[in-house]
Amino acid sequence: MNSTSPPPLASLHKLRAGMVGMGMIFDETYRPFFETVRRQPLYEPGVGVCEVELAAVASRTGQRAEAYRKSAGDRIGAFKSFVEPNCTEQLLASDVDCVCVATPDDRHFSAASAAIKAGKHVLIEKPSVLTLRELDELVALAKQHNVLAKVVYHKLLDPDHKKLRTLVADGVLKHVNNGYCTLLEPKSISGSQFAEWITGRNPGTYVAVHYIKLIDFTFGGRLKCVQCTGQRGLVGPADGPTWDSTQLRMIYEYDDGREAAFDIHTSWVTPDNFPGYVEQEVQFRFDNGVWNGHSRKRGIELTVEGRTPTELKTTINTHYNGTFLEPWGARAQRGYGIEVLERFVREVAQVEFGGPPSERNQRLAAARTLAYNDLSADRQTVAAVEAMEAILTANVAGTPNCVVNVNDQRGGLVLYKPGAAEPEVLHAGKV
Ligand SMILES: NC(=O)c1ccc[n+]([C@@H]2O[C@H](COP(=O)([O-])OP(=O)(O)OC[C@H]3O[C@@H](n4cnc5c(N)ncnc54)[C@H](O)[C@@H]3O)[C@@H](O)[C@H]2O)c1
Repeated sequence: MNSTSPPPLASLHKLRAGMVGMGMIFDETYRPFFETVRRQPLYEPGVGVCEVELAAVASRTGQRAEAYRKSAGDRIGAFKSFVEPNCTEQLLASDVDCVCVATPDDRHFSAASAAIKAGKHVLIEKPSVLTLRELDELVALAKQHNVLAKVVYHKLLDPDHKKLRTLVADGVLKHVNNGYCTLLEPKSISGSQFAEWITGRNPGTYVAVHYIKLIDFTFGGRLKCVQCTGQRGLVGPADGPTWDSTQLRMIYEYDDGREAAFDIHTSWVTPDNFPGYVEQEVQFRFDNGVWNGHSRKRGIELTVEGRTPTELKTTINTHYNGTFLEPWGARAQRGYGIEVLERFVREVAQVEFGGPPSERNQRLAAARTLAYNDLSADRQTVAAVEAMEAILTANVAGTPNCVVNVNDQRGGLVLYKPGAAEPEVLHAGKV
């Protein structure tokens, strides 16, 4: 370069994102992500600078979208807001490159499949979908339409869980034998936040799925068997279809033929004056060690007269998603709940702009090998969710204590009811 030539400019790209669902998780993680990336575009070597814009949103009534537009002011750009009926179709007809799906969990499939068919990259909130049939269809559609189909399990990015996985991957912790995980949500979640869609739902599918994925991703192995029970009577009638709390057990088998059992307890009826927003604890026992993790008790205990523990929490999880005054004076909101969204957008940018168009398929294939978020790697997690849902449904219908076997001689997911001569095949194909 001689002294008169201008400095080289990094390539400048833009991704336009669509958001389906503008509820609690939008406010906690997507909102801070889009506001931060608007101020500070992403940079990826090999890609250049990539601006990311929240271009359009879709929701049932649009009320929260309008409230957000007003409160955000110039922290966010102009975005279109579409409402029911057909809000997703309208969003897809607008100019977006990727779509984030954060609707209630039994409405993920319809929005995600429509987005993929429209040729958009898709990111779905956990649990991705509720059945293997839906999962297989989305994976096939994503291949057919040459786009990414990914799911958000942000707990895989929690530094504590990353350390656990590192110790397992490096052989420091040897052969998991068994373990437990619990995640307890406050009553306000079931009582008000999710009141619109909670009938017939359970906290297991909503949050145990984080730990199903953590176990599946961290320890590998083959899911063999799923059991589940739970309690009713607080969120809905004691003989109704809506669950207060659930206890799930999964049994895995490893290459050496040895097994491990995991219990995952979840609830969304914990008192609202609980000192932390959610209670999250895990313990895993290995041949040569024990891992104890507690997401709330990582060190902080805050007391503010008249404000903790209801308005402000006593034991705060600053790792997930904290609001901070940075030492250099800026206000920021950061944490693994936001980082996981940024990772997805970086993967999309890499596929679209990370080299010549003729090599896009190779970049797409490389992004699909990322097992932490690709839908094709979500099979055992979705299988556990489908099994749990079927067991709870059978319980509501009068048959408790069912068991689902995975990949036995009768099929991929097979429901055994006590006293019934014939099992029910939930999913015929191999999991
Ligand atoms: N990653 C996490 O830890 C985490 C935490 C909370 C929620 N979630 C997931 O995010 C999803 C949404 O949860 P939430 O807490 O934001 O729920 P919410 O009830 O607060 O919001 C749901 C949103 O979806 C919209 N919606 C409902 N039906 C729709 C439809 N047919 N088309 C378009 N929009 C529709 C509603 O208008 C609302 O904006 C769920 O799948 C949940 O499991 C993930």
